[in-house]
Amino acid sequence: MNVDSKKIDAFLVELLTQVGENLREDSIKKMSVGTKKNRNDLVTNFDKKTEKFINTRIKEAYPEATIVSEEGYGDLVKDMSGLVFFVDPIDGTMNFVKRGDDFASMIGVYIDGEPLIGAIIDVMDNEIYHGGKEIGLFIDQTPIDIPKNLPLIEGLVDISAPMALANKFDVQEVVKKSSGLRVYGSAGIIFGHLLTGKEVMYMSYLAPWDLAAGRVLCEAAGMSVVSIDDSPINMLESQVVIVGTQKVASEALKTLKAR
Ligand code: IPD
Ligand code: CA
Ligand code: CA
Ligand code: CA
Repeated sequence: MNVDSKKIDAFLVELLTQVGENLREDSIKKMSVGTKKNRNDLVTNFDKKTEKFINTRIKEAYPEATIVSEEGYGDLVKDMSGLVFFVDPIDGTMNFVKRGDDFASMIGVYIDGEPLIGAIIDVMDNEIYHGGKEIGLFIDQTPIDIPKNLPLIEGLVDISAPMALANKFDVQEVVKKSSGLRVYGSAGIIFGHLLTGKEVMYMSYLAPWDLAAGRVLCEAAGMSVVSIDDSPINMLESQVVIVGTQKVASEALKTLKAR
């Protein structure tokens, strides 16, 4: 399939710019908050409204594409053939509800299973991380300086709170070997930290829409994106994922237990 990656990138930047404007307005309006799997798994009217908006725009521009998205307005995608868009309308819904900051909106695009273009907006900072292997990486219009391949001892790691607290896979051993632990609560915000060298690793149980955009961007920046048992990443399933500099990812895989 022949696709114009630059055109898709420009489309995502325009779309997320609009989403950012909408959400900055929405975040000061009264929201209705519901729960999904448990009391801390939140969903708001704005998660749903934003997903409907994004998916409608994707279908208008790319009618041949299929969409995997969090809140139920996507397609039932059974394989990765053709153009597949992954949509996380609000990433860090808990931060959106409780803090009104440090939340993102993310879109990742794959072609026949290969990462193509990713875009993440840090909504309140109004910065868009975007691009891919073919076209390069940018924050808004500025090219990103590829982060150094730092070892664990030289950087901060970000691990989802439940995983760090439960010491899943002995993950606290990884923390002990690092410069320290940070827990930002939004995969999208953390991918931004990895791309700018502020953190060297992220580990969490991630759904396809949590991972898709960040995987495109971090791989294009030369980082490793690996599953906890080092098996190939399956973009149609949730899995525990390590994203980090190549040195850190391999140190983490050696350190983690019970895999
Ligand atoms: C969540 C956030 C969080 C991560 C969770 C995700 P959501 O996404 O990215 O940082 O640890 O696994 O589910 O539900 O706010 O879009
Ligand atoms: Ca959610
Ligand atoms: Ca998410
Ligand atoms: Ca979400």
